[in-house]
Amino acid sequence: MPSPLDVFRDGVLAGHVALVTGGGTGISRGIAHAFARFGADVCIISRKQDVLDRTAEELRAATGRKVLGLAADVRDPEAVARAVTHTVEHFGKLDTLVNGAAGNFLAPAAGLSPNGFRTVIEIDLIGTFNAARAAFEPLRASGNGLVLNISATLHYHGTPLQIHASAAKAGVDAITTNLAVEWGRFGIRSCGIAPGPIADTEGMKRLAPGDIADRARAAIPAARFGTIEEIAAAAVFLRSPAAAYVSGHVMVIDGGQCIATPSLMGVSL
Ligand code: HXC
Repeated sequence: MPSPLDVFRDGVLAGHVALVTGGGTGISRGIAHAFARFGADVCIISRKQDVLDRTAEELRAATGRKVLGLAADVRDPEAVARAVTHTVEHFGKLDTLVNGAAGNFLAPAAGLSPNGFRTVIEIDLIGTFNAARAAFEPLRASGNGLVLNISATLHYHGTPLQIHASAAKAGVDAITTNLAVEWGRFGIRSCGIAPGPIADTEGMKRLAPGDIADRARAAIPAARFGTIEEIAAAAVFLRSPAAAYVSGHVMVIDGGQCIATPSLMGVSL
């Protein structure tokens, strides 16, 4: 089965260094893998060192690149700053920050505790700010910096049971556009990817349990879920010289789902 990544030439990211939050699993892991496959050295961060160690070993074995796994909670600005510093000390620089760390669950607005709402805002939105702020100086020093934020399409419509994640991802998209405006003069681009339903992810397990997945699939014009490699391919494009003039843009990758139906999972209340 050909991979969407096969269209890129080997070594297109040679010499790059990337830090990927949430890189131990899911879409972020796929992006880290793709960056390493095309020649980048990569640091992945998340909360669980054992998960990071396993993923880093797998990516090193698959790509032959240097892959570092550092435990850090994106909600903790000092821990994120330490991870950025460590990455720069280890690899000598930082060119790309991918903000992929996220938390989510289904909950009705009237039943969601303030702490539940705050927790998702802190991971997705504040975590994105914390990492971007910590990465600013090395990205500026790179001269070819990129902040790549992973959001979602939840907030394009009202998505039931997703008030916390919708608010967080709307904020993430705002960070993407703001940084493009503020940091362009420092040689830093800021882009986003808004994935729709993607197979084999923690998000789909949590948001589309059981037969909801079948209804969700039926509502997608492409009639299937996306793949992690399809998101990773967009990330490689946005990081590559082919996207050198792309900044402030959030690329929707959802098989047409969000323009066909306002309900991400094909369900309404
Ligand atoms: C209601 C919940 C809940 C649930 C947690 N909470 N789960 N409320 N329904 N299912 C509430 C808790 O009761 C608590 O509030 C508060 O949230 C914090 O919970 P903790 O478990 O203490 O938080 P923590 O250990 O930090 O875990 C964070 C988490 C967890 C987000 C709650 O699920 C997590 O770590 N997730 C990481 C992985 C993940 O979710 N990946 C999927 C991303 S999907 P109280 O008031 O009781 O103290 C994604 C895709 C979006 O982003 C788009 C899809 C297309």
